[in-house]
Amino acid sequence: MAFGSIEELEGALARSSYLTDRGLATALYLALRLEKPLLLEGEAGVGKTEAAKAVASALDAPLIRLQCYEGLDIAHAVYEWNYARQLLHIRAAQAGTVDEGELFGRDFLIRRPVLEALESERRALLLIDEIDRADEEFEAFLLEVLSDFQVTIPELGTIHARERPYVILTSNRTRELHDALKRRCLYHWIEHPSLEREVQIVELRVPGVPGRLAEQAARFAAELRALDLQKPPGIAETIDWVRALTALGRQELDVEHVQATLGSLLKYHEDVLALRDEALAQLVAASRD
Ligand SMILES: Nc1ncnc2c1ncn2[C@@H]1O[C@H](COP(=O)(O)OP(=O)(O)O)[C@@H](O)[C@H]1O
Ligand SMILES: [Mg+2]
Repeated sequence: MAFGSIEELEGALARSSYLTDRGLATALYLALRLEKPLLLEGEAGVGKTEAAKAVASALDAPLIRLQCYEGLDIAHAVYEWNYARQLLHIRAAQAGTVDEGELFGRDFLIRRPVLEALESERRALLLIDEIDRADEEFEAFLLEVLSDFQVTIPELGTIHARERPYVILTSNRTRELHDALKRRCLYHWIEHPSLEREVQIVELRVPGVPGRLAEQAARFAAELRALDLQKPPGIAETIDWVRALTALGRQELDVEHVQATLGSLLKYHEDVLALRDEALAQLVAASRD
């Protein structure tokens, strides 16, 4: 394994522009070290997907991403037969231009992310993103893949991983995942970052941002997370917002510009309404203290 210590991994992630706290760095380190899949849960925008990308980049491993959604099935996650190509082949064989040959061979197999990860020439990092969006049936199927690192294709037989891919799963926790799946994985809940950490992340991701603006914006975002909002801002939103403010030439927060750019930070109309006039002015003042 590429990293001799948690600190080394932290350093490599930072070079990939990802700043971790100790808890996450430890979870990532152990997942690599023990060769276990890691399940990252947390609210939207706390850096789950980015963590996987940063690990792949730190390992210099190919990142193979399976984005989950309702109705995701094996044909889109693992493999599919290329029917169009098979049909053409049959026609050509009938016309006598090619030999009949094997219709269910490698040439007609479309590899989707899971199979691609198992067969990757270089050890890959398989990111199974937003697993909570997939159906439970698919989750059960994944369980098999994650325990044996192999898939069976009836026409071809069982395909074993050339090298076990690193696996990171993420969930926004729109539903609970099965215990059985969790048992296969190490688990880490990503919290919103500390104020200090968020300022560092903003400074890293928005080069040239005025220091005061980064700090006030991070404080403002942290205050928002303490309110009872439909969708509290994640780091992604703070970064977008600071980019907007910087584009407008701001050095600090002020009510007028916060008002005008609030759409980068809050994505629900109810949340914007909850933060009108007085409430907004108070938060701006508190963030500037
Ligand atoms: N720890 C971090 N260090 C640097 N950037 C981060 C960090 N966490 C989040 N980000 C930024 O926030 C954005 C959103 O993170 P993302 O991984 O998409 O969130 P999630 O997958 O949890 O919804 C990323 O594109 C990245 O720019
Ligand atoms: Mg994500």
